[in-house]
Amino acid sequence: MKKIVVLTGAGVSAESGIKTFRDSGGLWEEHNIEDVATYDAWLHNQELVIEFYNQRRKQLYECSPNAAHYALAELEKQYDVQIITQNIDDLHERAGSSKVLHLHGELKKVRSTIDNSMIYELEGWELKSGDCCEKGSQLRPHVVWFGEKVPNILPAVQLSSKADIYMVIGTSLNVYPAAGLLGNVPNHVPKYLIDPNGSEVSGIKNLTVIKEKAGKGVPELVKKLLEEK
Ligand code: OAD
Repeated sequence: MKKIVVLTGAGVSAESGIKTFRDSGGLWEEHNIEDVATYDAWLHNQELVIEFYNQRRKQLYECSPNAAHYALAELEKQYDVQIITQNIDDLHERAGSSKVLHLHGELKKVRSTIDNSMIYELEGWELKSGDCCEKGSQLRPHVVWFGEKVPNILPAVQLSSKADIYMVIGTSLNVYPAAGLLGNVPNHVPKYLIDPNGSEVSGIKNLTVIKEKAGKGVPELVKKLLEEK
C-alpha cells in the first residue's frame, strides 16, 4: 500500500469552528503567546493559562469534524495514511483516522508537572487549580508551549522521509520544527499544499498548491487519489 503522510495545521479545523492562530481574528490576535502558551506564563500566571486551555477544551466539545477530516479518514480505504498534526484538537480521531501523531500535544489530556510520563485523559472540559497527579503535583495541559521541546518531532521526520505522497493542509508553516518537515520529504515525492492563502515553498520540489479551503480542497483531492488507484 502506498504511504500518504498528511501534515495538518489549524486551517483543517477552521470550518469546524475552531479559530486559527495567525489569520485575522485568530487566537494570537486576542491573546499574547507569552501570557498563555509558555512555561514562564505557567509559572507566573497559572490561573490564566488553565482558563485559556479550559476555554479551548470547552469549545472543542461543541465542535465536530468537517468534510476535510472525514475525507482523510476515507483515504485509509486504499492507502496507508499517517496524519501528523500540529493541532491539539481530536477531530482527526473523531472522524475515524487511525494513525494520528500530535506534534503539539492533546487538549483533552493533562499531565503531571513533576513526571512527564504521567499523562491522563481529563474527564470533561475543566482542569482546576488543585487537580493533582498521584505524586501530588498540579496537573498541567498536555500541550507543547513555545520554548518547549517537541517530543514527537523525530518520528515525524522519519515518517515524512518515507512518504510516497505528501499533503500539507491549513498551516502557515510559521512554527518550527513542524514547518521544516516538508524539507524531509524526498524531491521526487508528489506534494500537495491545500490552503486558501497557500503559495510555493522555497526549495520544495514537486509541490502543487491548491488555493482552497480544506472543506472543499481536501475531499476533491482525496477523490482524485482514490480514483487513481
Ligand atoms: P496558523 O494560524 O499559523 O495558520 C493557519 C493556516 O490555515 C493559514 O495558512 C490559513 O491560510 C489557513 N486556513 C484558514 N482557514 C482555512 C481553511 N478553511 N482551510 C484550509 N486552510 C485554512 O496555524 P498553524 O500553522 O497550525 O502551536 O500554527 C502552527 C502552530 O502555531 C500551532 O500548532 C500553535 C500555534 O502557535 C502551539 O501552540 C505550540
